[in-house]
Amino acid sequence: MSLMLNELQNKASSRIAAAQTLAQIEEVRLDLFGKKGELTNLMKSLSAMSDEERRTTGAALNQMRDHLRVSLDNKKEQLETIALNERLQKERLDLSLSPRPEMEGKIHPISQTIDELIAIFGEMGFAYAEGPDIEEDFHNFEALNIPPEHPARQSHDTFYFNESVTGRKLLRTHTSPVQIRTMLDQKPPIKIIAPGRTFRCDDDATHSPNFHQIEGLVIDKNIHMGHLQSCLLDFCRAFFQEDKLSLRFRPSFFPFTEPSAEVDIQCQKNKGSLKIGVGTDWLEILGCGMVHPKVLQNVGIDPEIYQGFAFGMGIERITMLKYNIPDLRNFYDSDARWLRHYGFSPVLLPTITGGLSS
Ligand code: DAH
Repeated sequence: MSLMLNELQNKASSRIAAAQTLAQIEEVRLDLFGKKGELTNLMKSLSAMSDEERRTTGAALNQMRDHLRVSLDNKKEQLETIALNERLQKERLDLSLSPRPEMEGKIHPISQTIDELIAIFGEMGFAYAEGPDIEEDFHNFEALNIPPEHPARQSHDTFYFNESVTGRKLLRTHTSPVQIRTMLDQKPPIKIIAPGRTFRCDDDATHSPNFHQIEGLVIDKNIHMGHLQSCLLDFCRAFFQEDKLSLRFRPSFFPFTEPSAEVDIQCQKNKGSLKIGVGTDWLEILGCGMVHPKVLQNVGIDPEIYQGFAFGMGIERITMLKYNIPDLRNFYDSDARWLRHYGFSPVLLPTITGGLSS
């Protein structure tokens, strides 16, 4: 018996030593310890032996089993290390490889413009703020100096929620409520932009029920209209990438600013084509003004100490102008062909130093 055991151990040991792969090691393990393995069978045969024989053979078998298990484990570990090192060598990431074009998704032009707006205004010291899409009448209208029967409400085409259930909540019709939320939340000085989704029940070639705006708000001591003008001029020149672009400030009316203005950018219209930053034509792009003293009072800021300016702009409109996108409705069609044409590479994030579009 002991001769046979010796032979078995020698054979198993040399198979373990010769194994080159984890699969081969597993094969040896199953041949020895599997359900019908050689050692398993020998263990089973113990029950048929005499007490004396079982004692000596049993002890020898146990010793051999332990020895072979350790050899198997060691060899397995050794092969695993070799396999891992090989993988690390083979699968090294080549960071210099450019991404394959067919793998690249596209950034939607609205997202691209929002990133550009954040980059430009961020550079000018504006912080990012946001508010909820579902608003209360107070933030969307009342605190902005638009009381219930004010005619300005008619131009907003508001989506209202069921009054009895929600207490007259609505989908915000502009980003201006973020002004109110920010001023209730923070003490001046305040300098924020708030890009986001806005909603009006309006649906035609130039209006979508869901669109985007960006709001700007600056509150500090001694803020005047000159700050507003230079801020918007710097912004427009950076956004449209036209160093000499002129702006025209036209007197206008908004309940939450006094005085109020609408701003036009300089352009040249020529038989359906449009060039921004040159020429003698004008195109309206935003509304702005000095924050109305009543609005400041509504949020507990003393208008005798603090003043400020605000502006609001449609993001679709400036995106269409900058990137020559002819139809507003395509923004929301989810047509992959359109996105492939008008979208932006996800690896080129807009920065002032890196260029805002490419
Ligand atoms: N909230 C206005 C709108 O949607 C746009 C606007 C005009 C915002 C003037 C402002 C502003 O902050 O000062 O029509």
